[in-house]
Amino acid sequence: MTAPAPKKLLNVLKGQREEIPPVWLMRQAGRYLPEYRALRAEKGGFLELAYDSDAAAEITLQPIRRFGFDGAILFSDILVIPHAMGQDLWFETGEGPRLAPRLADSRLDELTPAPQRLTPVFETVRKVRAGLPDTTTFLGFAGSPWTVATYMVHGQGSKDQSEARRMAHAEPARFAALIDEIVAATVDYLGRQIEAGVDAVQLFDSWAGSLSPAQFEKWVIAPNAEIVRRLKERHPDTPIIGFPKGAGGKLAAYAEGTGVDALGLDETVDPHWADRELPKALPVQGNLDPLALIAGGPDLESAVDNILSAFADRPHIFNLGHGILPDTPIEHVEKLLTLVRRD
Ligand code: CP3
Repeated sequence: MTAPAPKKLLNVLKGQREEIPPVWLMRQAGRYLPEYRALRAEKGGFLELAYDSDAAAEITLQPIRRFGFDGAILFSDILVIPHAMGQDLWFETGEGPRLAPRLADSRLDELTPAPQRLTPVFETVRKVRAGLPDTTTFLGFAGSPWTVATYMVHGQGSKDQSEARRMAHAEPARFAALIDEIVAATVDYLGRQIEAGVDAVQLFDSWAGSLSPAQFEKWVIAPNAEIVRRLKERHPDTPIIGFPKGAGGKLAAYAEGTGVDALGLDETVDPHWADRELPKALPVQGNLDPLALIAGGPDLESAVDNILSAFADRPHIFNLGHGILPDTPIEHVEKLLTLVRRD
């Protein structure tokens, strides 16, 4: 019998340090890739791709084929959960997602749940699993309840998430009921991704930074802790990465309070500060500024060096601090890989 091929990224998530850190990039399957844009034009739109399991599997694999990243992330979106909870979902060209009816002026219990909308996603997971090299770690994901709720309440993205923040303060019982429903849907969704073949999962809390400390405790730490607790009951060996973007000084409390296995850091966090503040054994992921990757040149080299040196003594996964931007030159991604892998 041959030994299983090593998955460097999974090893790091389980607490092992790798000499050369594994690397993947948030939003690595997307618009900066010509092969993505070609398939999107053929299928007609983003949601058409996300719910077509052959197309979504192909897009998940595209950046692995081109760059040989250590991790593949499932091609889908955090907003498929509100869609499955019964809101309509569509993307306005050049603007972003829309959800209707929005919960600022309608009730959750008036929605008709549509869980079958998620079925193609699990099919995508099985197809990717079958096509992925043995050394590549496969990451599933979901949005965290607070971030998902901000879209469900406002019906679209917003600058300061004020509609959801208002509801959280003014109608805490109603808001808590919404958060509980999202927690339940998310646990079920991630559990089914794991059963279909992902190796680890990431919780994206893109708007964690917009809350006061007390509200952060209630709507970020507590619901994510509940997701971790329930997922670990069913899948104790599957690592969970938490990414509370903008959490800053609340990162250590988040890590301790939620029990996530690894912590994603955004680009506003000083990596040397993070290394000092966070438990020594805790794996971290991040945190190159996506704009340094667009700039390239000496700016990119020094930013990469700074991150590698800060995390030289702990389990570290190299990543961006947020998603790769559509105008990122492909050659800069190639250069980044040679810098991180010291080729
Ligand atoms: O990382 C990956 O490559 C996997 C797929 C993935 C997408 N969205 C695909 C996508 C992941 C992990 C996400 C997460 C996501 N989606 C988040 C959390 C992370 C973050 O970026 O803060 C959020 C807030 C969303 C909601 C969402 N989806 C918005 C606000 C938008 C519009 C803005 C934009 O970037 O176009 C999307 C669309 C979206 N999701 C695209 C992709 C590839 C672009 C679709 C296209 O036009 O082709």
